[in-house]
Amino acid sequence: MSDLSGCQLCPRLAAHRETVKLQYPAYHCAPVAAFGAASARLLIVGLAPGLHGANASGRPFTGDASGDLLFTALHDHGFASQAQSRSSADGMQLIDCRITNAVKCLPPRNQPRASETNTCNPYLRAEIGDLPAGGVLLTLGGFAHRAVTRALGLRHAEYPFARAAAYDLDARRTLFSCYHPSRYNLNTGRITAASFTEVFGRIRELLR
Ligand code: URA
Repeated sequence: MSDLSGCQLCPRLAAHRETVKLQYPAYHCAPVAAFGAASARLLIVGLAPGLHGANASGRPFTGDASGDLLFTALHDHGFASQAQSRSSADGMQLIDCRITNAVKCLPPRNQPRASETNTCNPYLRAEIGDLPAGGVLLTLGGFAHRAVTRALGLRHAEYPFARAAAYDLDARRTLFSCYHPSRYNLNTGRITAASFTEVFGRIRELLR
């Protein structure tokens, strides 16, 4: 596996990064690495960097509406030092928590191709491999959930995505899934701030 920082494995995504960089020279426009210690007992997996969020800041969920909901919930349950995450220089500390994405580069129209998701999957597999025994994996949305079951070598049909599902894995690890904290899911009522935050309450109980 090549180094994530200069990854060129997906030609379409590598070209898209360059195109976006021309339009927004101050943006990160490169693969976005996981945020948080590899030893953390909670690993959260999102979809892919957002154009004006992680792709701009260089840190998952930092600077967009999804991140507002995520970091508020993390802060409420003691997994983050701050409730707001605006830039990679904001002093945010994750506490026993790590955040990553199924696909590390900004995809056009927020839609990675299956081939790109598969090409990126070994990076995710390595991050999951760092999760200690007794740890929790949380997938945000069906896309991330499928990428995680693939990385774990599980049959997706036996571990389907569902709102607030929880599955026992090996080494006392637990796989949780919940809807993605996107503005769309919030605006359509699929999630509320309260229902989203509640998932982290359950995880906190497990990790206590
Ligand atoms: N920002 C990310 O880093 N990932 C998402 O899935 C959404 C926004």
